[in-house]
Amino acid sequence: MRSFATLLLSVAIASQHALAAPTPDTSASEPLIPLVVRDAHPEAHESDAFTVKQVRNEGFVQPSGLEALMHAYAKYNATIPNDIKLAVKINVQVQEKQQKRGNMWGTAVAYSPGNSDYAYLIPVQLGIPAQTINLDLDTGSADVWMITNETPSSQVKGQQVYDLRKSRSATRLNGFSWHIGYGDGSGARGNVYYERMAIGSASYARQAIGSATSISASFTNDPNIPGLLGLGFKKGNTISPRQQNTFMDNIARSLASPVFTANLKHGTPGNYNFGYVAGFEYTGAISWGGIDQNSIYWQFYVTGFQIGSGGRFNSLIFPAIADTGTSLLLLPDSIRNAYYAQVRGAGFDSYWGAVVFPCGSFLPDFRFGQGSYRGFIPGRYMNYGQINATHCFGGIQSSGGFSFAIFGDIALKAQFVVFDYGNKRLGFANKRLT
Ligand SMILES: *[C@@H]1O[C@H](CO)[C@@H](O)[C@H](O)[C@H]1NC(C)=O
Ligand SMILES: *[C@@H]1O[C@H](CO)[C@@H](O)[C@H](O)[C@H]1NC(C)=O
Repeated sequence: MRSFATLLLSVAIASQHALAAPTPDTSASEPLIPLVVRDAHPEAHESDAFTVKQVRNEGFVQPSGLEALMHAYAKYNATIPNDIKLAVKINVQVQEKQQKRGNMWGTAVAYSPGNSDYAYLIPVQLGIPAQTINLDLDTGSADVWMITNETPSSQVKGQQVYDLRKSRSATRLNGFSWHIGYGDGSGARGNVYYERMAIGSASYARQAIGSATSISASFTNDPNIPGLLGLGFKKGNTISPRQQNTFMDNIARSLASPVFTANLKHGTPGNYNFGYVAGFEYTGAISWGGIDQNSIYWQFYVTGFQIGSGGRFNSLIFPAIADTGTSLLLLPDSIRNAYYAQVRGAGFDSYWGAVVFPCGSFLPDFRFGQGSYRGFIPGRYMNYGQINATHCFGGIQSSGGFSFAIFGDIALKAQFVVFDYGNKRLGFANKRLT
């Protein structure tokens, strides 16, 4: 394990973290679409707002932290730092998995559920008669796609399969295809259908869905993930020759408010709500920040951070995305280093390509700023998982290879998050934590 002094030094030398000098847009200038706030969950028969329970994934085996990191690098096509390349070379556990999957890079974790103790899947009803498929809701991509009867059986590893042949409502879009290609060469592709899709009580008759006709080995590795429900922005949709609407594009006008909220939880099912804000799911006020209108992601600006409850707030403005489909919290090196400098025995471990720490060490709480708001993430959430008898994998890792920080599940499950599609802004609120 490299000492922290070495880590800090190499970061100082290698830091090419070119952060733009953005102006955080925390004040909305245009008139806002009012939010529907409810004090109780709406009745099940109401169709303009609904709530979806996450499905707890009992058989879920947590992907290793290194795989989770590789997943992020692959997903955002970021240059993989040499120390992570080296870690994969020497990390026997990850190598063995990759060999089984028949693929060299990053692919191992492409569609892992991606969080430490459960997967954020939600039940989605497809077709007529409805078949329920549990999809991974991913705010970091913009396609709905899944394993179907068109997927070669050799590429299906125990996942649910959507059977298009049993649906009376599926209509093939001739000449259309989708293709998700990761920077590491892994990917999935297939045919496109218009299909009836419903989540809770809201439905859309002609949602464009991707049927996988080819998936690289890693995509099929996780028996819990039959596909993704992308709720990023349409610009990121991969359907050609013409991009298609996301589910949110299609249902926004039918919702009481054109929003969805994430209330992900640690170690127990949380929920996503569509169409309203549940007043009882958070404490205090919601803090709003503008999102970058040109991004395909929910990209916002962080205005600083605080480590430990007695620490002071450090102003630092940097872009970040809220991505339910990434497991870790990836932050600029200066913040990562400042955090682990306060964790006894923490250091960069070349075997894992990441910061690890003795599991018994105290983990300070963390706060991020959005204007005057302070989003709270308790220290206990910063443990991604155990790597051996003594050490644990840190939930905060470097965003050095990316042009933005990534607020994955480590951070999101500590917050109540409002994806305000109508007003193009992102809201954070603190909440009671488990
Ligand atoms: C990934 O990035 C490389 C170079 O940075 C580029 O050539 C390639 O087309 C990109 N791939 C994807 C899938 O975006
Ligand atoms: C666990 O991993 C850490 C970091 O690589 C190492 O320092 C430690 O010796 C390992 N402990 C055991 C019991 O293998």
